[in-house]
Amino acid sequence: MYCWTATGERQTQKFRERYVNSVLSQEIGWFDTCGASELSTKLAEMIGKVQDGTGRKVGDLIQYLTQFVAAMGVAFYLNWKLSLVLLAAIPIIGAAGIISYLLVCAGDGVTGASGTELNLGAFMIMAITSAQQQALEQYAGAGGLASQALNAIRTVTALNMQPGIVSRYRHFLYEAMLVGVRKGVNVGLGNGAVFGACFLTYALGFWYGGNLVADALENNCTHDCLTGGDVLAVFFSTIMGSIALGQVAPPLTAFSSARAAVGSILEIVERVPLIDGLSDDGMKPDVKCRGEIVVENVHFAYPSRPNLQVCKGYDLQIAAGETVALVGMSGAGKSTLINLLLRFYDPQKGRIMLDSYDIKELNIKYLRQQCGYVGQEPVLFAVSVNA
Ligand SMILES: Nc1ncnc2c1ncn2[C@@H]1O[C@H](COP(=O)(O)OP(=O)(O)OP(=O)(O)O)[C@@H](O)[C@H]1O
Ligand SMILES: [Mg+2]
Repeated sequence: MYCWTATGERQTQKFRERYVNSVLSQEIGWFDTCGASELSTKLAEMIGKVQDGTGRKVGDLIQYLTQFVAAMGVAFYLNWKLSLVLLAAIPIIGAAGIISYLLVCAGDGVTGASGTELNLGAFMIMAITSAQQQALEQYAGAGGLASQALNAIRTVTALNMQPGIVSRYRHFLYEAMLVGVRKGVNVGLGNGAVFGACFLTYALGFWYGGNLVADALENNCTHDCLTGGDVLAVFFSTIMGSIALGQVAPPLTAFSSARAAVGSILEIVERVPLIDGLSDDGMKPDVKCRGEIVVENVHFAYPSRPNLQVCKGYDLQIAAGETVALVGMSGAGKSTLINLLLRFYDPQKGRIMLDSYDIKELNIKYLRQQCGYVGQEPVLFAVSVNA
């Protein structure tokens, strides 16, 4: 178990590092389209799944499969007839498990499960987990709304939006409560079905086992006779075997979720940035940068809004040392031009030259080192400004 947990931890650590490295080297246009604020939440969620599917669950699966095989082996060795009868009852417990799962899912609004997930007694756990997930989503929505409102409390107060925010907050909590109530009722019904099926199986096993022992006594058995002890041994072996089989579902589910999560992580890890800010490629002229800027027929639309053409053939010449103010309406594309100059984005057509070098040919680190830039909404980091 220790080894599996350790390898799982190591693998997720590597995934984490590669993911963060890859995200940090992506171009800014990518962040516009992928929802930058979700990246860290996504990472935490996906890494959790990978950790779950590569760690102790592998050991668990091996343990449960071995337990199943060994228990069934012992049961069949002691009395194959009773073992077969008990085995025949397992599908009934399985069916009860499926019913309870569907009940909890129905109370939950979850739409069923895939074939691999349908497996005996683990249904309840999975279903309850998914119900908790639903409630958590509502609480996360409520938390998000509250933090948004508190962050912009001046705007909220200025626009008198408090009652609206409170009612939306209440709606989230109400939804979470509904999920909880539905889950409670359905878990009760589901538990009843599962336990009912289990007790019926116990009854069947003891009735049939008792009959076998009685038959042996009636037939004056003298050699290798079935005793009450044998019946109990077969009975508990079969139960242990079926419990183990039921436990196989969570590891299998964890593996399939981990596979899906690794897929999404690798999609980001393997993405080659269109503009790699950390790359060492490109020219780094030895001569001091003079600062002559030429913008030639630049056409540009942001990747997240390809239909809005921001720059329609911009031309501009700024001589070295010249002070220029770009003046225009809000949304005219002033900041966009600076974004293009710093190669946060590349124009779709046209080119920008710095000291007669096309900026696409220059090394990006070099290019950005030549520019001093204070953004429109600056965020100052500690010790980034020297007095
Ligand atoms: N990251 C972005 N993704 C999509 N569209 C954007 C993005 N940034 C700006 N825009 C859009 O591009 C257009 C030009 O924006 P830009 O920020 O360059 O204007 P601006 O001239 O600097 O305006 P302001 O004077 O308000 O700063 C606007 O319509 C804006 O909505
Ligand atoms: Mg601007």
